[in-house]
Amino acid sequence: MAEKFDVVIIGAGAAGLMCAAEAGKRGRSVLVVDHGKKPGRKILISGGGRCNFTNYDVAAGNFVCRNPHFVKSALSQYTNWDFISMIAKHEIAFEERDHGQLFCEESAKEIVAMLLAECDLPTVQQRYQVDVHGISKTEGGFSLKLNTDLVECESLVVATGGLSMPKLGATPFGYQVADQFGLKMVPTTAGLVPFTLHKEDKEAFAELSGIAIPALVEAEDGTTFRENLLFTHRGLSGPVILQISSYWTPGQKVTVDLLPDLGLEETLNTMRDKHPNQSLKNSLSRLLPKRLIEVLIERGDLVDKPLKQFNPKEITAMANYFHQWTIAPNGTEGYRTAEVTLGGVDTDELSSKTMEAKKVPGLYFAGEVMDVSGWLGGYNFQWAWSSGFVAGQHA
Ligand code: FDA
Repeated sequence: MAEKFDVVIIGAGAAGLMCAAEAGKRGRSVLVVDHGKKPGRKILISGGGRCNFTNYDVAAGNFVCRNPHFVKSALSQYTNWDFISMIAKHEIAFEERDHGQLFCEESAKEIVAMLLAECDLPTVQQRYQVDVHGISKTEGGFSLKLNTDLVECESLVVATGGLSMPKLGATPFGYQVADQFGLKMVPTTAGLVPFTLHKEDKEAFAELSGIAIPALVEAEDGTTFRENLLFTHRGLSGPVILQISSYWTPGQKVTVDLLPDLGLEETLNTMRDKHPNQSLKNSLSRLLPKRLIEVLIERGDLVDKPLKQFNPKEITAMANYFHQWTIAPNGTEGYRTAEVTLGGVDTDELSSKTMEAKKVPGLYFAGEVMDVSGWLGGYNFQWAWSSGFVAGQHA
């Protein structure tokens, strides 16, 4: 005989736990299953162990989704302020960092503990190390064949996340469920991920590994971010690169303003007037890391000579070079290091008000499994909280 629940949630991550707590508070009998040993594994390692759980400024524009309006309803039904209230209720100390990002002062463990406390209801059961071997539609809902037993439910919530960080239990399970029920998918790819470079660039810039510079980066679609760029052994990283990676597709270039706070042409002209015999290398090394300038000279991108030997046209060209440094990434580091997965279950298939599949009553999706990913800065968790909350109100 199958055990019966009102709601079964697959995935005890951020969205699944939020959904379980909300459905449980409505008096629904809830079973959460996860194939991992413990809940919230991504929460625990997020934000360097401090979890950047939301942001003071949240708007639809902070999310990447083929339908930019889809996120609006859930984000207004459960806002960043609602989550901050929950944090306050559980007396979790938090701090604001740059760009309104909110982190735990102590540990991400507190977020998982808070969600588990919210789920600590007679109506909610959690089971770990459970594999779902099959799902079938029944008259009253769904039947799930687990490795342990058979369960039935009226509503099924898929909150299995994206593909990033397979080491933490990421699987394509949610996409397979969507496929089983005939729901369209938006092709998936790694987002918020470092770029790798072509051999020549990689070899030239590898020795700059560890050097960070403030930069303004632009994707070919005109999206820009301004943050630190970090050279790594494999290519380029740092917050500005992670952000722009979500707007980049293979074969495209990105344009980097390496001196976003400076009019370089004017600065170089002033330097040439005051110190005509100073070398280009020494002049630019006052503005940018010396090793970067040396590498650019070694590559033949710049010619090192006294400033007085540069004519105005050459100065203009050099200023343009630094303000529009163009890089053609070879690719990204992929799901191994990506923070999120772009693409997923097509939001056209889902009700933005309830997260229910339009053509499969009782089937819900929550969190990163769908074609919604946020910017760096707490937006991905906010989407997990908002979509999990909404699914929990209706499942
Ligand atoms: P999530 O991945 O959290 O949970 C999915 C759950 O489903 C997991 O518990 C998994 O084990 C389970 N599961 C998967 N397949 C299954 C199967 N077949 N059967 C059973 N269970 C299955 N975001 C942010 O806003 N601020 C931050 O600071 C960070 N930091 C960060 C760091 C790193 C290293 C990564 C990889 C990611 C982040 N993120 C982030 C992104 C954030 O972690 C992510 O968007 C959310 O965890 C998504 O929540 P979900 O609940 O949708 O999936």
